[in-house]
Amino acid sequence: MNMDQLKRQAAARALEEVRDGMQLGLGTGSTAKHFVELLGERVAAGLKVIGVPTSEATRLDATRCGVPLTTLDEIDHLDITVDGADEIDPALNLIKGGGGALLREKIVAAASDRMIVIADDSKWVPTLGKFPLPVEVIPFGLGATRRAIEKAFAECGVSGQMAVRKGKDGHVFVTDGGHWIVDAQLGRIEDPASLAKALSAIPGVVEHGLFIGLASSAVLAGGEGIRVIER
Ligand code: A5P
Repeated sequence: MNMDQLKRQAAARALEEVRDGMQLGLGTGSTAKHFVELLGERVAAGLKVIGVPTSEATRLDATRCGVPLTTLDEIDHLDITVDGADEIDPALNLIKGGGGALLREKIVAAASDRMIVIADDSKWVPTLGKFPLPVEVIPFGLGATRRAIEKAFAECGVSGQMAVRKGKDGHVFVTDGGHWIVDAQLGRIEDPASLAKALSAIPGVVEHGLFIGLASSAVLAGGEGIRVIER
């Protein structure tokens, strides 16, 4: 089974948790896209749900798949958010934002009763940090913000190269919120909760890709089947 089939299997397993009438957060990325497509098939067959997309890309996918959409201004909570991740550790802390949607992903996850992370099992790691940590920043004052980020890294015992993310066209990648992303190659993050707190305290940092205590469960698809890990 190839990687894409594993992602679809994880998405299909998460779909089993969805009930009629639910309000759903719809994640971003190649795995979440499978979930949106499968959800669209269920909606076409009569399932009544409403979704809040975590990116403009997911908004387009959901619309194409016939999933009705709303916003967090129109509803007061979400039952379940289903989203992918770049890394998942045994405490179900995550690195997210490889696709650049971390800010809306975190707002939507935090507004949800449950967050189900779906992934192929290559995303399962003993310690976060091999995947570059995305930090979403305001372009104004970037030099000062970078220095503050470096200081936070040093205080939390990590270090590594930082680079402003570029898009496929070679230009600076701009998020749905109009911000930039700095990717930091940290290698190992021994204390992700402390690092998350330190990064959140920096004025020019809009959000970062450490999702601490947000995931309720992870559905991991691998060669030997599906594993569901609950927090
Ligand atoms: C989007 O910003 C990310 O957080 C994605 O959820 C994450 O990168 C996982 O994407 P894939 O499912 O494409 O690996």
